[in-house]
Amino acid sequence: MPVKHLVITLDGPAGAGKSTVAKALAKRLGISYLDTGAMYRALTLKALRLNMDLSDEEALTELARRTRIDFKEMPDGSLNVTLDGEDVSMEIRTIEVTNNTHYAAKTPGVRSLMVAWQRAIGLARSVVTDGRDQGTVVFTDARYKFYVDADVEERVGRRYRELIAAGKQVDLEQLRADMKDRDQKDFNRAVGPLKKAPDAVTVDSTGLTVEGTVDKIMRLIQL
Ligand code: DC
Repeated sequence: MPVKHLVITLDGPAGAGKSTVAKALAKRLGISYLDTGAMYRALTLKALRLNMDLSDEEALTELARRTRIDFKEMPDGSLNVTLDGEDVSMEIRTIEVTNNTHYAAKTPGVRSLMVAWQRAIGLARSVVTDGRDQGTVVFTDARYKFYVDADVEERVGRRYRELIAAGKQVDLEQLRADMKDRDQKDFNRAVGPLKKAPDAVTVDSTGLTVEGTVDKIMRLIQL
C-alpha cells in the first residue's frame, strides 16, 4: 500500500534490536530504512584507514566535509552505506570501528553535517530511521517516534549471537564491558545524546522477537 510522505524514528541504546526492527518495519511499509549509525561508522572507517587522531575534532570535521556518505539501494530493497562511492556495509561492522565511532558521534561539527544529510534523505523519501537523536534532533516533526529499549543482559546476548553468527570471535565479558561503556558515552555526550523524545512511545523489546516488536509498533501506527 503506497503511503504519503512518512518519517518514523526509532531511537534507543545499542543492541536493543532497533536496526533489525527498523529494517523489517520499513519492509512491511514499503519505505526506506535509514541506518544513521552506519553514517558515523563510515566516517570512522575512513579516519581509521587514514590513521588519523580520532580525538582531533577539527580534523574529523574537516574530513567529514570532504567525505560523501550515501546509500545504495540493493535488489532486496535494503540500503547499503557507501563511503565516497565504495560499498562499506561489511567493513563498518568490525569491533574496531564499533569501539571507535564514539569519537565521530561526540564531535559537534560532524554531528551537524550528519544531521543535515539525514534530513535531506528524510525529505526526499519516506523513511524508518534508526539512531540516537532521530526523534529529539533530526526529525522533531516525525509522525511517529519510538524509543526502543531492552534489558541490558538481553542486549549483550543479542549482540553476542549476532557476532558469533557472523563468524567473529567474541569474549562475552569484554562485549558486556564495551556495551556498558558505549551506553555511558551515548547517554552522556554534550551534543545529540541518547534520550527519549517527550512525544516518543517506549517499546520494550525484552523477550520479544523481531516480528513481535514490529507487530507491536504496527499496532501503534495509523496510515
Ligand atoms: O547504532 P549503531 O551501533 O550502528 O551506532 C554506531 C555509533 O554511532 C554509536 O556509538 C552511536 C552513534 N550514533 C549516534 O551518535 N547518533 C546516531 N544517530 C546514530 C548512531
